[in-house]
Amino acid sequence: MGTLPGVAVQKLNPRHRDDIARHLLRLPAEDRRLRFGRAIRDQAIGEYVAGIDLGRDRAFGVSAPDLALIGVAHLALDRSTGSAELGLSVDPASRGRGYGYALLQRAVLHAANRGFRALFMYCLAENHIMIHLARKAGLTVVVERGEVDARLALDRSAHGGALQEAIADQIALVDCLLKQQYLWLARPGLKSAATEPGIQEIADERRGIARIAEAIEGKVSRHT
Ligand SMILES: CC(C)(COP(=O)(O)OP(=O)(O)OC[C@H]1O[C@@H](n2cnc3c(N)ncnc32)[C@H](O)[C@@H]1OP(=O)(O)O)[C@@H](O)C(=O)NCCC(=O)NCCS
Repeated sequence: MGTLPGVAVQKLNPRHRDDIARHLLRLPAEDRRLRFGRAIRDQAIGEYVAGIDLGRDRAFGVSAPDLALIGVAHLALDRSTGSAELGLSVDPASRGRGYGYALLQRAVLHAANRGFRALFMYCLAENHIMIHLARKAGLTVVVERGEVDARLALDRSAHGGALQEAIADQIALVDCLLKQQYLWLARPGLKSAATEPGIQEIADERRGIARIAEAIEGKVSRHT
C-alpha cells in the first residue's frame, strides 16, 4: 500500500447500522442511482442495510465532528472466490476532500491484509468521479454497455501492511475519541465549549492527526 490517507477512516460495527442507514437515506435520488446502479427507495435502502452481514463483510466510515457518518464504504467479502466487492458514498456537502479516496484505500488495505486476491467495483459509465478514483487507486477500468467494471488484483506485499492497518485503526480511534470529547464538552450547560472555537479545535486536531499519519507513513513505508 503506497500511502496512508490523512483522513481518519473507522471500521464500523453492528452498532453503526442505523448511522449507515441515515447516511444512505440522506443521499439524493441521483446519488443513490450512482451508488446502487439503479433508482432505490428508502425502504429498499433500509432492507439493504439490514442485510449487510457485518460478521462476514466489512464496513468503513468517515465521520463529521458530531460523529454522524458522512462517508461509508461497504466491502462485501466472498471467501469462496477470494474476491471483495466495494461500494461507497460520501455526503454531497462533504465531497472533494479526499474522503472517497480514503475509503477506497482503506478497503484495499483491509482486503489485501485478509488475503483476498481481487477487489471489484461496479458503477455506471457516467460516474466519472468514481472512474477517476478507481484509476487513481490502481484499479483496471473496463467500460462496457453503460457500465464500468473496475478491478484490482490484490497483492499483500503491494497493497497490504499489517502495521499500516493497525496505525490507520489507531488514528481512527483517536479521531473518534477527540470528537466524543468535544461533544461531551459541548453538551447543554457547558456553553463556553459549545461555541465555534470548539469546532475549530476539532479541525486543528484533525490536521494534527493527518500530520502524524503522514509522519508515520514515512516510517512505515521504509520498514514494511
Ligand atoms: C464517488 C464519491 C464517493 C467520491 O467521494 P469524494 O469524497 O468526493 O471523493 P474524493 O474527494 O476522494 O475524490 C474526488 C475526486 O474526483 C475528482 N473529480 C471531481 N469531479 C470530477 C469529474 N467530473 N470527473 C472526474 N473526476 C472528478 C476530484 O478532482 C477528485 O480527484 P483528485 O483528488 O484526484 O483531485 C462521491 O462522489 C459519491 O458518493 N457519489 C455518489 C455515489 C457513488 O457514485 N458511489 C460510487 C459507486 S459505488
